[in-house]
Amino acid sequence: MVTPQRVLTGITTTGTPHLGNYVGAIAPCIEASTRADTESFLFLADYHALIKCQDPARVRQSSREIAATWLALGLDPSRTVFYRQSDVPEIMELCWILSCSAAKGLMNRAHAYKAAVADNEARGADQDLGITMGLFSYPLLMSADILMFQATHVPVGRDQIQHIEMARDIASRFNHHYGELLVLPEAVVDQDTSTLQGLDGRKMSKSYGNTIPLFDSEKTLKKLINKIQTNLLEPGEPKDPDSSAVFQIWQAFATPSETDSMRKEFEQGIAWGEAKKRLFELINDHLSPARARYNELLEHPEAIEATLCEGAVRARSYASPLMRAIREAVGIQSMS
Ligand code: TRP
Repeated sequence: MVTPQRVLTGITTTGTPHLGNYVGAIAPCIEASTRADTESFLFLADYHALIKCQDPARVRQSSREIAATWLALGLDPSRTVFYRQSDVPEIMELCWILSCSAAKGLMNRAHAYKAAVADNEARGADQDLGITMGLFSYPLLMSADILMFQATHVPVGRDQIQHIEMARDIASRFNHHYGELLVLPEAVVDQDTSTLQGLDGRKMSKSYGNTIPLFDSEKTLKKLINKIQTNLLEPGEPKDPDSSAVFQIWQAFATPSETDSMRKEFEQGIAWGEAKKRLFELINDHLSPARARYNELLEHPEAIEATLCEGAVRARSYASPLMRAIREAVGIQSMS
C-alpha cells in the first residue's frame, strides 16, 4: 500500500554542500522528513554524477561529503530511507525498461540536452559535439529513481519540473500498456524557500564559483564572509538592507527579531566590517555543532557506509517486489 504522501529527493554527488544548498534544500527537506504524514526517501544520485563529472576522486569525495552533511545536520535514517542510488540495482533495470516505453521525441525536448545542442549550434559545431547518451537519457534515469519507489511528491527546483512531467508521461504510457504499476509523481516547488545570494550577489551556485561551503573551517568561513561584495558606503552612512547580500544571508539564518534589528542597524549606517563580523558569528554559532559532527563522520567513513548499507536494504525492500511485478508485466519471468 502506498501512503498518501511519499516524498523522494536525490542529490547529484558532484559538489561540496554550500550555504545555499542548506537554506534552499537541506534544511527544509530535513524539516519535512519529520512530519508524521510523510514517508521520506533521500538518496545520493551517484549514477547521475557520472553525467557531469568524470573525475572518480571528485565523485567519491562528494558522495562522502554529502552523506556526512545530511547526517550531521540531523537527518534521521530511521525515519528517512537514506541510500545510494548505485546500491539499488533495480533502479538501473527499471531505467532500461522505461527507455523502451519512453518516446525519443520526448527526450529531445529535455532542456539540459536542448541547451547543449543550442550551444553547439551557436558555435557552429556539430550539434552532437560532447553530448553523451548519459546526458540525453538523464530524464529516464531520474524517472526510474522516482517511479521505482512510487513516490507521490518530488520537491524540486524550477529547473527540474520538466523532468517530473516527463516521469509522469513515461509512467502513464507504461501503465497504459502493461497495467497500473507505476504511480504518477507530482513536482513540489516550494515558493517560499529562499535562494541565497552568493559572494558576488548572484544566486549562490557552484556554477558561478560564488559559494560559501557549509562546513569548511571557521577561518575559511570568516574569510569568505569578508569577501561578500558590498558597496563603498562608509560607516555611518545609511545602507539599503534589501539590496545587500550580507543582509540577505543574515535573514536566512536569523530569527525575525534579529532580522528587524539588523535592518535598523543598516539604516543607521552599520560599518560593512561590523555587519560581516556579526554575520560570521551568527552563522558560525548556528553551524558549529553540526560542523563538529560532520568532521567526526568524515574521520569515520565506515559509520557513513554502514548507514547507507542499511538504507540500501530498506530501499530494496520496496524496489525488489515492484521490480518483480514489472518484469512479469513486461513478460520477463521464470519459465517454470
Ligand atoms: N536531477 C536532480 C538534480 O540535478 C537530482 C536527482 C536525480 C533527483 N534523481 C532525482 C531529484 C530524483 C529528485 C528525484 O538536482
